[in-house]
Amino acid sequence: MPVVMPIYGTRPEAIKMAPIVAALSASSDFDCIVTVTGQHREMLDQVNELFGIVPDHDLDILQPGQSLADILTRTINGLDKLFAAAKPDAVVVQGDTTTSTAGAIAAFYRGIPVIHAEAGLRSHNLFSPFPEEANRKITTQVASLHLAPTSTSKANLLAEGVNPRDIVVTGNTVIDALLTTVGKEVPFTDPQLEELAGSGRRILLVTTHRRENQGNAMRGVGRALARIADAEPELMIVMPVHKNPVVREAVLPAIEGKANVLVTEPLAYGEFTRLIARAHIVLTDSGGVQEEAPSLGKPVLVMRENTERPEALAAGTVKLIGTDEERIVTEVDSLLNDPVAYDAMALAVNPYGDGKAAARTVAAIAQLLGVGTRISDFD
Ligand code: UD1
Ligand code: UDP
Repeated sequence: MPVVMPIYGTRPEAIKMAPIVAALSASSDFDCIVTVTGQHREMLDQVNELFGIVPDHDLDILQPGQSLADILTRTINGLDKLFAAAKPDAVVVQGDTTTSTAGAIAAFYRGIPVIHAEAGLRSHNLFSPFPEEANRKITTQVASLHLAPTSTSKANLLAEGVNPRDIVVTGNTVIDALLTTVGKEVPFTDPQLEELAGSGRRILLVTTHRRENQGNAMRGVGRALARIADAEPELMIVMPVHKNPVVREAVLPAIEGKANVLVTEPLAYGEFTRLIARAHIVLTDSGGVQEEAPSLGKPVLVMRENTERPEALAAGTVKLIGTDEERIVTEVDSLLNDPVAYDAMALAVNPYGDGKAAARTVAAIAQLLGVGTRISDFD
């Protein structure tokens, strides 16, 4: 039986890999061996726990203040030793983190086929998002099977000369994860959140972490949030803040102590998706949140200059607003106080998947390894 090794290391990879791990484990065609790098720790373990995944191997690479080179070298060195012992027939990497690209390179060097989930996203700017645009392009070069979430991402791969026979349009597994999670209405661990959820107050949900936004831009985000909080006392701003101390030092000083700002630790995925569903507006620089919120009909203001996820932009539920303090204040004000502007963006659309991405992924892997055949693409 072929041995397939999913490799992941951060929160978003864990969420998007969980449906693939579940489908591989449920199949009698494969032996599924889960390896985590530990690029994230608490934020990774939180997801594995929710989805009941106990990794077979954990490289435990996290170091506070880790550099990109630390993540890359510690992952490649750890995986190279592991591959020699575990001898996987294929590895699955997800997205564009440094864990995923290091996993792809380490496998390629050992002659192990690389399956790339969420392949073909492109912002067409090598420095934004940094280093993710470069990471995803590097992984494309060494992958044997490219699992594109949408036809747009497939078109990007074709434009770069990838063989159409090696591309499958699966939809994004984040929608599989979302659909199995969001309806459960799990209780919030934080009593303040539970009380807020039961109140009639409007919620502005905020997340930020992107490397290219750290520093001045993120301090500007903090100042914008403080101004919005002062101008809209009835609004609650909720910010589950990333574990990265660099993010906390930049964004928190301006908003600390404000009565209508609630800063929490990273929320478990079930709680976070419930919070998106309860929110009025989402303000974020996250990739995954840009994919989830549109299917829940929430307007998303994206604090970035560009996006590799143009589908929801085209549908009108997502707007790129950058990180300029004045612009953030103006755009949030418009959505809060102009019902026409709000209704134009509050559309439930599902451009990223139909909940069957993991089934298509596993069928495509089965065909690659000669134990099955693909099923029809996500349209
Ligand atoms: C990483 C990914 C990014 C992804 C993001 C998701 C890279 C280069 N970046 O960025 O693509 O969007 O994850 O969140 O792969 N930390 C903890 N505990 C945790 C997680 C992080 O303490 O559970 C702290 C550590 O001090 C660490 C810092 O956060 O040094 C940054 O983590 P890192 O994985 O290097 O970068 P992210 O910004 O999280
Ligand atoms: N998320 C979560 N808890 C939180 C914040 C986010 O579970 O407190 C989830 C969110 O639903 C999405 C993913 O984490 O699926 C996004 O992770 P992040 O923004 O860190 O990374 P990105 O998607 O930008 O790579």
